[in-house]
Amino acid sequence: MVSDARDGAERVRKIVHGLRSFSRSREQDPSTPLVVADVLDAALRLTGNEVRHRAQLVRELGPVPRVVADDGQLTQVFINLLINASHAIPEGHSDQNRITVRTRTDDQGRAVIEVEDTGQGIAPEVQARVFDPFFTTKDVGEGTGLGLSICHGIITGLGGQISIESAPEHGTVVRVVLPGHAGAPARDAAPAPASEAVTAANGRTRHRVMLVDDEPQVAHTMERLLRRDYDITVALCGRDAIDHITRGARFDAIVTDMMMPNMTGIELSEELRRVAPDQAQRLIFLSGGAFTAQARERLDELGAPQLEKPVTAKELRACVLRVVTEARPPAP
Ligand SMILES: Nc1ncnc2c1ncn2[C@@H]1O[C@H](COP(=O)(O)OP(=O)(O)O)[C@@H](O)[C@H]1O
Ligand SMILES: [Mg+2]
Repeated sequence: MVSDARDGAERVRKIVHGLRSFSRSREQDPSTPLVVADVLDAALRLTGNEVRHRAQLVRELGPVPRVVADDGQLTQVFINLLINASHAIPEGHSDQNRITVRTRTDDQGRAVIEVEDTGQGIAPEVQARVFDPFFTTKDVGEGTGLGLSICHGIITGLGGQISIESAPEHGTVVRVVLPGHAGAPARDAAPAPASEAVTAANGRTRHRVMLVDDEPQVAHTMERLLRRDYDITVALCGRDAIDHITRGARFDAIVTDMMMPNMTGIELSEELRRVAPDQAQRLIFLSGGAFTAQARERLDELGAPQLEKPVTAKELRACVLRVVTEARPPAP
């Protein structure tokens, strides 16, 4: 039962995460290079129900450069392509159909992303018109005819290309080509879990961590996740956190919620920079995703690590480990 509940919670977490990255689109700095696989993951999560009943999902994800794009918009492109692919396949024969998501890097260093289906295909006389706004072969109420024209607008706006190839009765492949972000690694390096074990096992360095969150449940859940490896202090508001520090306590990492009633995470960081600048550099911001544009700007300036709720145990541990073991450069 516990494991079922956990699986359920994890599913909800993924959905929340998907919705959030979708809704945040307009706030995000469009110059941030994105990891294509992450965007595809979000789109696949949001279309999972649609795809599941019609086809097997095949992922052939080769390395690709990061791309400069708006997260929400690019997610929307892949959602549209995945929905179109699944609409081309009748329900109920999912074992005989496939939707393949493929990525690779072409010889000019561009990211190539393909969504291929084994559906009904597109008749040759129709193919030239599929990117036209309002062109649809679907019934009224089912298709708007806007999906591909929106995709076309987004992709060409990014300096990329979108094209479609189809064999009637056999299926369709839609290909998106996007310029790669210069000098970007193909993927984020995963934090090394090994060093965590070392710290925990030899017990040599027992670092001190303060958790600041106005919701006791959240604070205590984090405490349970971290107390095996760290000495934990919980503060239920920013004031409380400041009090610990002005009384002389020092922490190797301070995880703080962003939205708290009396003092926000940003205000806590400003106050810390005044009273104990060394401690301000130990901050990790934990957010529920609701930011004012101003808060986001300030956060980016501070350059401190940010975690997004709902956070996994693994993410939390990896981030805390990074902060306690790394000497952080002085904040601006
Ligand atoms: N994967 C596909 N397989 C077959 N036909 C497709 C596919 N993708 C798009 N089409 C065709 O292109 C048309 C336009 O697609 P789109 O712009 O997404 O609008 P809509 O899906 O609302 O009809 C669809 O009505 C369909 O005829
Ligand atoms: Mg569509």
